[in-house]
Amino acid sequence: MGLVIKTQYNVYIKDKKFNQLAEKFHTLFGKTELIIQAPARVNIIGEHTDYNDGFVLPFACDRYIWFFASPNAERKLKLHAADIDQTATIDLDHLQIETSGFERYFAIVCQYLQQNNYKINGLNIVFGGTIPGGAGMSSSSAITCGFLYLLNQQFNLNIPKSELPFMASNAENLTGLNGGFMDQFAIFNGKKEHAILLDCRDRNARQIPLHLEGHHFYLFNTNVKHNLVDTEYNSRRQDCTDVLEQIAKSENISSVRAITMEFLDQYAAEISAKQYNRVQFVIKENKRVLNAIKAIEKSDFSELGKLLLQSHEGLSKKYEVSCPELDFLVEKGQQYPSILGSRMMGGGFGGCTINLVKGELSPQLCDAIKLAYQQKFGRQVDIWQVGSSDGIRVVPNKRAD
Ligand code: GLA
Repeated sequence: MGLVIKTQYNVYIKDKKFNQLAEKFHTLFGKTELIIQAPARVNIIGEHTDYNDGFVLPFACDRYIWFFASPNAERKLKLHAADIDQTATIDLDHLQIETSGFERYFAIVCQYLQQNNYKINGLNIVFGGTIPGGAGMSSSSAITCGFLYLLNQQFNLNIPKSELPFMASNAENLTGLNGGFMDQFAIFNGKKEHAILLDCRDRNARQIPLHLEGHHFYLFNTNVKHNLVDTEYNSRRQDCTDVLEQIAKSENISSVRAITMEFLDQYAAEISAKQYNRVQFVIKENKRVLNAIKAIEKSDFSELGKLLLQSHEGLSKKYEVSCPELDFLVEKGQQYPSILGSRMMGGGFGGCTINLVKGELSPQLCDAIKLAYQQKFGRQVDIWQVGSSDGIRVVPNKRAD
């Protein structure tokens, strides 16, 4: 990141990848009219709590998908996914969202907007960037959010920014994954040097300054690609809803957030052990998010690290959304005093761990982790530092002199 290149086409170039996208757009479609930057999402703590009306603590991170666009006179989206070198055309008058191709995320946004009577027209789009797919960093939400934002700008849809994350989340649910809205909220509302404390019940958000005092977040990518729709994400959500419905037969509650440990114990005989574990995890994870805020505000990083480890333990043993590769990396991290805590991040079943590190990871330490992982699983782990970033924005598109 940070490499500034001045090309013939654009003045404000972020890095080599951005530059390649600009060139590609020029080759395929000519002059760019609009450039959008959509960040990835990193979540410090508060996993599987968003759809349970709980608390989350994500930030928008400094990995991006960029969209280069210009209008066309046809009723078609002409798409080029530069990272995988694939092209697709979407006919706006005959939308098909059943495809398994990359264009699905574009088609669902169009369908959602059409269902809600928004008028859009043809566009040429080249997109790509620096967010690895399937890593639990919400690359698909970055595509959905970025595209929705692009349409809002290009066609003056006048959708208030405050509504966009929820619309993007609703559109994404058309894929069949019954996800929450943490990712979309962070992608739209991220602020550099801040994490967002989001109360998913009231939709209140507070920007929490991230004064990390020489600490950094690192992601370790297991390179186990998760496919949340094919995994048990929806069934975890259902487990929690089932417990709520059971308790709500006798108690006046309407949200998983209202289930206390007292309620859970009182109704333990009426739910399964598995359901008990799921909701117990959610109750404890919500408390951990609030404790994490206190730890950050007190600069108590060893406490924050412990909370990450407790979160992982719950995700692995009680919520059962981890996998051997994630568990291995979390356990491995505990061998090194500079890694204060780690946990799996995102939906789970693969993807990344997030690690709170005092100082920076030395190349020797990274090599030791990579070697151990390779020996155990016969695959590579990728390690990189992540910083916070501002949310979605239009990138100024000025032609060079
Ligand atoms: C995925 C979903 C989010 C959230 C996380 C788990 O990233 O898109 O809404 O539920 O999993 O915390």
